[in-house]
Parts: sequence; C-alpha cells; structure tokens
Amino acid sequence: MTFVNLLELEALARPCLPTAVFDYFAGGAHDEITLGENRRAYDTVMLRPRVLVDVRHRDLSTTLLGARLSCPVLVAPMALQGMAHADGELATARAATSVGTIVTVSTLSSVPAEDIRPACTPAPWYQVYVHQDRGITTEILGRVSAAGYAALVLTVDTPVLGRRERDVRNAFRPPPSVVFTNAAPSGTMPAAQESKLAEYFTARHDAGVTWKDLEWLRRVCSLPIVLKGVVRADDAARAVEHGVDGLIVSNHGGRQLDTTVPAIRALPEVSDAVHGRIPVLVDGGVRRGTDVLKAIALGACAVLVGRPVLWGLALDGEAGVRQVLTTLRDELDTAMALCGCRTLGEITRDLVVE
Ligand code: FNR
Ligand code: LAC
Repeated sequence: MTFVNLLELEALARPCLPTAVFDYFAGGAHDEITLGENRRAYDTVMLRPRVLVDVRHRDLSTTLLGARLSCPVLVAPMALQGMAHADGELATARAATSVGTIVTVSTLSSVPAEDIRPACTPAPWYQVYVHQDRGITTEILGRVSAAGYAALVLTVDTPVLGRRERDVRNAFRPPPSVVFTNAAPSGTMPAAQESKLAEYFTARHDAGVTWKDLEWLRRVCSLPIVLKGVVRADDAARAVEHGVDGLIVSNHGGRQLDTTVPAIRALPEVSDAVHGRIPVLVDGGVRRGTDVLKAIALGACAVLVGRPVLWGLALDGEAGVRQVLTTLRDELDTAMALCGCRTLGEITRDLVVE
C-alpha cells in the first residue's frame, strides 16, 4: 500500500468498504461541524520554531501510567473493527505493538478483549461503557483485569449515542459476521445482529452514570481510571478531586454532540486546570506530526488517533495500521527537528502562537 500522508487515506479506503460501513467510520453527529472543526482547528494553530539547536539526536519516547512508549501516539478505542478487516482489533493491536505504543480496546470490540491482550506490548487499555445491568460490566472488568490490561478508559461523553444522520439514512447495523464480543459471557450477542447500533447502545448502556459511580468503578476494579471526553476546566478539576488517574480531552471525533468545541481548543483550559497532577491526552483530528507537536505544546502528554487507523486497517490490515502509526511518528520526528526540540519535554507552549 502506498500513501504519503494520513489525510489522503479516507479517500483511498473508501472503495474497500461497503457504503454503510464507510459512513459509520467516517461520519459524525448532525451537521458534522465538530468533525470538521477538530481538523481545521489544528491548521489555525501556528508554530514559532526555535533555531540553531543541535537536533541530531531526538527522542520521541515517553512514559504513561508506568508504561514506556516509543512515541506519544496511542490508538483510540473504536468499535467493531472486524468491519474494516477480518483480523479486526487483533491486526490493530499487533501494529501498535510493533511500533511500541498502547492500543485502547473498545467495549464494543469485535474480538474479545482477552484474545487481544496477548498481542499487546505495552499492555492495552480497556474502554468502558457501563451497562444498565452493572453485573455485566463487573464481569467484563474482572476479565480484563485478570487478562492484564493496564488501565480503564471510562468514556464520559456518551450517555446516549449521538445522532449520526449518515447511519440513520443507511439504517446502519453491523453485518451478521461482526458481533459484539465482550458484553456477554457467551462471547456473542445474537440480538446485536438484529438491532441498529444506536438502538442497541441505548437499550444496553446506562445513561445515569455520574461522578459517584467512580467509587463503584474503583470497588469493582483496581486498575487506573482515565476519563475520556472531558472538555471543561471544572470537570477536569473535579476529576482530579475524585482521584482519576488521567484525562482524555475529546469530543468523540465529532460523533456525539455536534458543535462541541474542537478538541485542541479545549486542551489548554483542561491542562491548566489539571496543572500537571495527572496525564492529559487529547484526540480528534490528529492527522499530522505537527498536530501531535501542537497538542504537546498545549499541555498534552500524548494523543490518540482514531479514523486513520481504520483506513489503514481496511487497506492493508496490520501493515496498513503500522504504516499509519509510523507515518505519524516520522512526521513528529521531523516537526521536532524543525522546531528545535530533542525531547518531548522541550516541546513547550511558547512554540505555538495562541
Ligand atoms: C469511535 N470512538 C469511540 N470511542 C469510545 O470511547 N468507544 C468506542 O467504542 C468508540 N468507537 C468509535 C468508532 C468509530 C468508527 C470511530 C471513528 C470512533 C471515538 C474514538 O475513540 C476517538 O475519540 C475519535 O475517533 C478521535 O477522533 P479521530 O482521530 O477519528 O478524528
Ligand atoms: C461510536 C461509539 C460506539 O462512536 O462509541 O460509534
């Protein structure tokens, strides 16, 4: 497979996928304003490179919740990757391992979380959607904890699924060959084949999760907890008070509440509120090495990448995802050299015009 950058991947992947699957992957909520702005907002952050620095040796590695990563780019949790490639989440996990970074496995993965675990070094993170039947979630968390997952990512921007009009028009439902594998002890859930994703999601998951439930989550699982979907300073401060271990500034790639502030614009206030007490990550619209550098300059310790991973997966399985991750890593390496940065720690806020 040949591609030069991540921005051209969507068009390349499109012919490989059924229209309804492509639309589910690519689309966002309502008018897709946030989907577009996530990307455009990076283009409006301008750089102020530092010159005459010896940048012959550069180090992109970092430590996150105790794990060593080759570069500050993780794979975001994404549902039903079996729709992109027969190997699904396994291919994504192998690619992340070959690059030396962390993959986040969705509650709605099409390969069981336990089966993905052996493919992952560093240990993966598990993304949590809380079921109305708390017993189901408790049971899953017991399994992922026993399997050796390193952290839980509690997604907090999805009490209900956003309305994605492409999916409404397509009456989107996963093909019968792709099923949710984590939510039932039996490993498969035939009902999911009959229902459309939004209906399935609303029927199964709990829209009543609040700050209080963090205590419950800690009781049932001792893994570190990262909140995904925070875009406000007050929520960030509250998360720190509640002993959360990390935050992901995110609007779910524009798939939830349309016209939510672009992720990179929400990052500085969250990072200021957190004040270095816990790691802050960001996702949504990261497509360029310069985007990663800007995110770090504005207070993130790492980013997550979503859709380009699905495009790489659809085009060429594990190798495609690997190329996505190495392209982003190599672009970051170049951006660091050109900004006079040898380490991630040298990527400071004065490098961007705010
Ligand atoms: C997602 N995302 C997501 N997030 C989550 O917490 N649980 C999930 O199951 C999913 N599923 C999912 C499916 C698909 C097809 C996409 C595109 C996204 C959101 C994801 O983790 C991330 O926040 C965004 O995708 C980041 O934006 P970009 O990089 O896709 O622009
Ligand atoms: C999505 C959900 C499942 O964004 O998180 O499609």
